[in-house]
Amino acid sequence: MTTVVVALGGSLLRPEVEERHKWLEDMVGVVKNSVRSGVKLALVVGGGAPAREGIDLARPVIHDLSHLDRIGIAATRLNATIVREAIAEGGVEVSENIPKSIDEAVDELSDFPVVVMGGTVPGHTTDAVAIRLAVQFEADKCIIATNVAKVHSEDPRENPGAESFDRLTLDELQQIVGPPNHSDAGSSKVVDPVGVGEARENGLPLDVLDGRDPRRISSSINGEDFEGTMVTP
Ligand code: UTP
Repeated sequence: MTTVVVALGGSLLRPEVEERHKWLEDMVGVVKNSVRSGVKLALVVGGGAPAREGIDLARPVIHDLSHLDRIGIAATRLNATIVREAIAEGGVEVSENIPKSIDEAVDELSDFPVVVMGGTVPGHTTDAVAIRLAVQFEADKCIIATNVAKVHSEDPRENPGAESFDRLTLDELQQIVGPPNHSDAGSSKVVDPVGVGEARENGLPLDVLDGRDPRRISSSINGEDFEGTMVTP
């Protein structure tokens, strides 16, 4: 059986468009179709707006990075609950529990075709959680669904002329995102450098793509060509 872990960037859940429930509705469809075709899925949801808002509110009073991280983790679990309940409403068999650790997620994945979770412990983002879960469960790959079309040589919001890549090695991706350290709560690189470090150590392939279009997530889950960056060992 194919198992795929998907890191869903928190910004995807709260798109700045009029019909903002549409993405969630489409994602439930993607999950339903994947399960129907026999794929096992773990979705790891990021913190997005509530994480940023909570961390910004607390930053002037809280200086310990791990304390700020815990605020981010709480937001990821709120978002995971929204995704989990929407999937359950869609009639898909999904673990009721939102796992709080990788070990718990591995157990739930053995019992259910779909598991949804947020963060685990301070020191990284949900990208790293997804990558760690994929390694531990021996998943076929990990999808990093974010809000840029491809990995670029530099942040395209700062340098619109940055080069974009269809394919990269994990070593090349590490060079782009920087060394595998957790430097700040709520900071956002295209893929968490800590996670990239673990993918490198374990030879885990990553598909990085624009999750605002759930069809791209679906193509990657099904092993079809997709628009995005394929990152291989
Ligand atoms: P996210 O996974 O949303 O990270 O976690 P991000 O890259 O900042 O944001 P997105 O995915 O682009 O929206 C939010 C914050 O929660 C803490 C970190 O501070 C992270 O930046 N966190 C999250 C943890 O400390 N551990 C976790 O397992 C997950």
